[in-house]
Amino acid sequence: MTGSDAAIPAIDTSRPHPARVYDWWLGGKDNYPVDEELARRILAVDGAAVRGARANRRFMHRAVRTAAEAGIRQFLDIGTGIPTEPNLHQVAQEIAPESKVVYADNDPIVLRHAQALLHSTPEGATNYVHADVREPDTVVRLAAETLDFSEPIALSLVALTHYLSDDAYGLLKRYVDELAPGSFVILSQVTPDLSPEVIAKAAEQFRRSGTPFFPRSLAEFSRFFDGLELLGPGVIPVSGWRPGPEDVAAQAEGIVPVYSGVARKV
Ligand SMILES: C[S@@+](CC[C@H](N)C(=O)[O-])C[C@H]1O[C@@H](n2cnc3c(N)ncnc32)[C@H](O)[C@@H]1O
Repeated sequence: MTGSDAAIPAIDTSRPHPARVYDWWLGGKDNYPVDEELARRILAVDGAAVRGARANRRFMHRAVRTAAEAGIRQFLDIGTGIPTEPNLHQVAQEIAPESKVVYADNDPIVLRHAQALLHSTPEGATNYVHADVREPDTVVRLAAETLDFSEPIALSLVALTHYLSDDAYGLLKRYVDELAPGSFVILSQVTPDLSPEVIAKAAEQFRRSGTPFFPRSLAEFSRFFDGLELLGPGVIPVSGWRPGPEDVAAQAEGIVPVYSGVARKV
């Protein structure tokens, strides 16, 4: 645990938090009535919210497996969320047990879970940074206590950039600049392209609850990969990214409005 040993911030149950709303959609129990209320309100306007959350989570598994199979042994996952099995370190360490993983999130509830989770993992292989993605100096400095930035790292911001405004481009570049050639960048985020009115209503619900929300078009999302080498099939809705049988079946229920992509730094 890094940057967090001194004080555990209080959990605010008076307003919904994205990690806990997402947890409700995933069928988790680590959420409060305010989170469930917002999750249900969004589900009422966007009937694909639960399918989207699950499809996004499966994308993360496949993308991490792809990076691990390509030889990546270090992972920096920012906007980790509340643990939901299998977690990223379990996917990576199933392929290569020596893989090192650093998780980072700014939500106190994620911090509490990380503390419990890390007690059950081998010392030094997995670490957690309690920090805001918008503080790259802090995140990189603390992550560097576990990860070697002179070797390739898979950097993942999965379902995170839709909470970040336009400075997200400069922010991501700041992280990518720290990475060694051969590193991977794994991203996904909500798009208005497929159902603009539905996503506008869902975004409005998030904003009213105090969480800024920035859906992005194909062109806007693709911009995150500028200067990087996109892996096939490129930028595509999550269920279509190197789909497994479950994803093929899920696609039959409709395409979820979440873009994804995996790229390599050359
Ligand atoms: C929708 S969840 C995604 C969880 C996980 N990455 C996944 O895709 O399954 C978004 C996560 O981003 C975190 N988050 C939102 N804004 C953040 C910020 N500014 N800095 C760090 N984490 C943030 C939330 O606390 C939440 O855990």
